[in-house]
Amino acid sequence: MNEHIDWHEQENWRSRLETALKANRRDAHSRYFQLATAGLDGSPQCRTVVFRGFLGDGDHLLAITDARSQKVAEIERDHRGHAHWYFARSREQFRLQTSLRLWDASGDQAVRTALWAKLSDAGRAQFFWPEPGAPLASGDSLTVTEDPPANFCVIDIEPRYVDYLWLGKTHQRIISERVGSSWQERSVNP
Ligand SMILES: Cc1cc2nc3c(=O)[nH]c(=O)nc-3n(C[C@H](O)[C@H](O)[C@H](O)COP(=O)(O)O)c2cc1C
Repeated sequence: MNEHIDWHEQENWRSRLETALKANRRDAHSRYFQLATAGLDGSPQCRTVVFRGFLGDGDHLLAITDARSQKVAEIERDHRGHAHWYFARSREQFRLQTSLRLWDASGDQAVRTALWAKLSDAGRAQFFWPEPGAPLASGDSLTVTEDPPANFCVIDIEPRYVDYLWLGKTHQRIISERVGSSWQERSVNP
């Protein structure tokens, strides 16, 4: 190991992210982050999604989406994703290189069903709209169901490399890298 690198094996980017979410909770938008994927033509594609929590006690983040959306086709083709957060109140940036997996009606249903149960009727209604991106048609009436519809899809976001930047009194940048089954962290110049 390079002796000039300051490794902190015990530290965890997840606790830093949880602290930031708490410190910024008065800003509703602190639950939103940007998720970038590779477009079908290779071009970068980025959009805002809602953070739906961590998967159990682990490091994976969860989001939900419509299986008919463009991002799903992109993730099926290329599992790499980039998640980005900026917390204005605490002046922290998180940039996460991630691996994305999709859970639809054909996979394990536990998390999918739990996330569906937490959605409001308005949140559920979005999954009953006609094809996303299709021309808007008027007069469509919406129904919602207790069980998730086939197009309700969970995005399981597994971080592998996290670049954390804090623009506090002293600027701090910490790189967290997944090595085997554990994380290694090092402070670097911002
Ligand atoms: C504040 C906000 C929150 C959003 N949350 C989600 C979300 O949780 N899941 C989602 O699929 N799209 C969400 N969207 C819409 C996406 O940003 C995007 O427009 C949509 O998913 C289509 O993206 P795609 O064509 O790249 O698949 C949100 C948009 C905004 C502005």
